[in-house]
Amino acid sequence: MKAMITGASSGIGEAIATTLHELGYEIVITGRRQERLDDLAKRLGNDRVIVRTLDVTDTAAIHTVVEEIGEIDILVNNAGGALGLAAAQDAELADWLTMIATNVTGLTVLTHALLPQMVERHTGIIINLGSVAGEFPYPGGNVYGAAKAFVRQFSLNLKADLAGTGVRVTDIEPGMVGETEFSLVRFRNDAERAMSVYDGMQPLTPGDIADLVRYIVTLPPHVNINTVSLMPVDQGFGAFHVARHTS
Ligand SMILES: NC(=O)c1ccc[n+]([C@@H]2O[C@H](COP(=O)([O-])OP(=O)(O)OC[C@H]3O[C@@H](n4cnc5c(N)ncnc54)[C@H](OP(=O)(O)O)[C@@H]3O)[C@@H](O)[C@H]2O)c1
Repeated sequence: MKAMITGASSGIGEAIATTLHELGYEIVITGRRQERLDDLAKRLGNDRVIVRTLDVTDTAAIHTVVEEIGEIDILVNNAGGALGLAAAQDAELADWLTMIATNVTGLTVLTHALLPQMVERHTGIIINLGSVAGEFPYPGGNVYGAAKAFVRQFSLNLKADLAGTGVRVTDIEPGMVGETEFSLVRFRNDAERAMSVYDGMQPLTPGDIADLVRYIVTLPPHVNINTVSLMPVDQGFGAFHVARHTS
């Protein structure tokens, strides 16, 4: 049994890859940073691990990798992230387009490439990494939140099409997850700002998400978990924002 994980070079993807390997899967670990993937492969003993450098915004590269690796039983569309936290009117267009290319287009192209062989074999699990940001808006979330809303709705619409095919689809929607590079990437390597996101609170860990994946993939084949929304106990929802005009 073979599992492919995008964005396995850090954080949540790395933890999920490790868990699926523990469960006995041959894993295809992908990401842009080859050395990080090689390190993970080494830690896992270089056994049942295939490393492929892959930028999910490169459609041609996705097709090449898919052709090389053949049938996949579990696809984890994890590669993604946010860039910046500026209000929409101040955001960089390039950041928006990168977030769409990574969180939306990459996941869509890879799913399109791998789905037919799963349906043909009447088996397969697709796990997408959405976010609570796909359901709940927050200031500065703009395109990141919209991209994750796509991930949620695409997952549910896949489920609609795949009923009866034996192929399962889940959207995992975490709140704050620490011990990842998510905030470092969002704040362009400003380590202090990235660390301050988790000040005085206990975030989820990549291991918490990997435990959830372990649960999902070990369920009997007639059970499909559609969506899972999870948060740290220390996180909650914001109140409605009201802009007051005092003069
Ligand atoms: N951390 C959170 O609070 C949180 C909450 C909800 C949802 N999520 C979602 O969970 C997923 C994993 O994030 P994380 O928290 O583990 O952050 P992370 O540590 O920054 O991991 C992101 C992964 O995505 C890969 N990636 C980014 N752009 C890519 C591209 N163009 N092509 C291929 N791989 C790419 C990175 O690898 P390379 O740089 O090597 O390519 C890295 O392995 C993301 O989809 C994120 O949106 C995170």
